[in-house]
Amino acid sequence: MKPFRMFAHTAMIAGISAMMFVAAIATAAQTTKSEEKKTAPGEAATATALDNLQAAYDGESNAKTRYEAFAKKADEEGYTKIASLFRAAAHAESVHISNHVAVIKKMGGEPKADIKAPDVKSTKENLEAAIKGETYETEIMYPGFIKQARDEKNKDALKTFNGAKAVEAEHAKLFKQALENLDQGKGGAVAYYVCKVCGYTAIQLPKNDCPICSNPKDNFDKVK
Ligand SMILES: [Fe+2]
Ligand SMILES: [Fe+2]
Repeated sequence: MKPFRMFAHTAMIAGISAMMFVAAIATAAQTTKSEEKKTAPGEAATATALDNLQAAYDGESNAKTRYEAFAKKADEEGYTKIASLFRAAAHAESVHISNHVAVIKKMGGEPKADIKAPDVKSTKENLEAAIKGETYETEIMYPGFIKQARDEKNKDALKTFNGAKAVEAEHAKLFKQALENLDQGKGGAVAYYVCKVCGYTAIQLPKNDCPICSNPKDNFDKVK
């Protein structure tokens, strides 16, 4: 081969190799992107129990912040009884936060939450938003997380998810009752009882032990 031809030949091979290299990099980048998407926290279908614990920790942390802000707003609007309910629910969410954190740490993870500024509206609208959030957690989020924890045979995750799911269903009921009887939400703060172990929230202390986790009834916090 003449020197010029040889040079052209080598240059062509180098060019093709470079194109193949770029294509390979692009494919690798795409694969990484789709893998990242697959394991994004909160996507119960493909996320791990640890991802779901982080998503639940984030959700509960934001719910707690939201309810504290809703309680303040309810007090400002004179809905003092509803303010008590929001404070009790916020306290219950803090129980869920502690329970989820304990499992995350036991699994070697570091709890991470992205706390957003709450969108505070009127108390009526705040109750509607709270019902929506609790219903989502009860019917969609926790059932997905429970399935995944069961698939992974992760007893600790299963326990904390099951406890939270049962309590969120009670919260949804309490918020619905408050919304249906909005006019009765005024007239002074009222006491709620919150289970220190699972966060079960009720206007009266249970006659026996906690109906969700069997924690003794003398191990409840009173929140007004
Ligand atoms: Fe809740
Ligand atoms: Fe409990």
